[in-house]
Amino acid sequence: MKAMNDYTNRLFGTNDATSRAILQAIEDEGLPQISVSPAAARWLTMLVSMTGAERVLEIGALGGYSGLALLRGLPSTGTLTSLELNESYAHLAKHHLEEAGFQGRVSYEIGDAMTSLAELDARGETYDFFFIDANKDGYADYVEGAMRLARPGALIVLDNVFAGGSVYDDRIEAKTSTPFMKRLNAMIASRTDVRANLLPIGDGFLVIELPQ
Ligand SMILES: C[S@@+](CC[C@H](N)C(=O)[O-])C[C@H]1O[C@@H](n2cnc3c(N)ncnc32)[C@H](O)[C@@H]1O
Repeated sequence: MKAMNDYTNRLFGTNDATSRAILQAIEDEGLPQISVSPAAARWLTMLVSMTGAERVLEIGALGGYSGLALLRGLPSTGTLTSLELNESYAHLAKHHLEEAGFQGRVSYEIGDAMTSLAELDARGETYDFFFIDANKDGYADYVEGAMRLARPGALIVLDNVFAGGSVYDDRIEAKTSTPFMKRLNAMIASRTDVRANLLPIGDGFLVIELPQ
């Protein structure tokens, strides 16, 4: 998996000055360096663009690197709502994305994502693209929460569903997230009401397409 990711990042993961600046700021500000890989970021931009999404919801902002990728796939009127537990991360992500020229197009919901999802639902908000990259034990609930806010034909993308490769290779040491991801991947694979598949990029994207 590492060799494949290195190869893909070498070919398709070139960061431009803006994305390099965000990654550098994340490092300088002492945030964990757990943003998606550059090639995974490119997939996010392409998936948002290919689906024609206008309203994107992200769970797990960190420093705004994936947020930048999502915004780049949107039309100029498109917006990103980002759910983040850590208030200081949300402020830094907002600052980075404003510096990158996306003023007025990103809003943050600070707190536990399940609470934020319920609040957005109560406000009648809907979205046509979701990117989930936060606490792994919440993923199954986040999928259900996203489905409640989804417009017809929406796409839900989840990161880290390979759990470092441990979901498909027993020789790789299991992570805390391994049982959650195994259950989630199998549960989504068995659903007949959605179209879904695994995208082998980074630590694995699970892509779920809801019916029109
Ligand atoms: C892997 S990082 C996100 C990286 C980001 N998507 C990127 O690639 O640039 C996970 C983020 O999820 C946030 N998080 C963890 N638990 C959360 C929760 N219960 N609700 C909302 N956000 C949460 C963390 O604070 C962290 O910023």
